[in-house]
Amino acid sequence: MTKNEIINKTQDFIKNKFENETSGHDWWHIHRVWKTAAYIAKQESADSFVVELAALLHDIADWKMHDGDMDVSPKAAKEWLTGLEVDEDIIDSVCDIIFNLSFKGAGVKQTITTLEGKIVQDADRLDAIGAIGIARAFTFGGAFGQLIYHPEASPQYHTTFEEYKNNHSTTVNHFYEKLLLLKDRMHTETAKKIATERHLVMEKFLADLKTEWGAFSD
Ligand code: ADP
Ligand code: NI
Repeated sequence: MTKNEIINKTQDFIKNKFENETSGHDWWHIHRVWKTAAYIAKQESADSFVVELAALLHDIADWKMHDGDMDVSPKAAKEWLTGLEVDEDIIDSVCDIIFNLSFKGAGVKQTITTLEGKIVQDADRLDAIGAIGIARAFTFGGAFGQLIYHPEASPQYHTTFEEYKNNHSTTVNHFYEKLLLLKDRMHTETAKKIATERHLVMEKFLADLKTEWGAFSD
């Protein structure tokens, strides 16, 4: 199978799997991350085959839906790629990226080391900020029964993955706990540039929301 055929088959597989998912990991999230990652890979001269496969497979089984088991996604990705007879070293690179990808809290150290991994992480994080990031956050908040905002609930900065995972906060707080931190956590120059613009969109949104919230109260 050619690289293109492998990408196409993986695209179809993931598209079918995620078409009816609406909690923030829908097919269009994966599509955007895939395309963004491919763009960054080109700009940064990375291995685009590994980048595209990892982007397509990065949310194949999310830990939030599996009681915090971090191994489910890389295992599922390995099974799929083995079935397509992809080279073992490519499979290892892709699975390593997927395992290390997920945000685990503001104070928890990240373990991504390869350029390809950094690119997929940048692309995934870019999709969590800006106008799309705002839409996704409130979609997630709705699905998990969170309040939009509470003027007296202050953000919490989690120092362990356990704390972050068990957090019950408002969706506006999620911006302070994660989304506004992402701009400074981009790895590649290409992503940093895009993130700067998207960060401003969120800052303006939060300022407007608070202005409207308090507009007629004393
Ligand atoms: P990723 O796939 O980028 O690691 P997550 O699985 O953590 O992202 O979250 C998926 C989407 O849901 C993101 O857009 C993220 O900002 C949003 N999200 C995650 N946790 C919360 C939360 N507690 N409140 C609001 N939005 C959230
Ligand atoms: Ni994702």
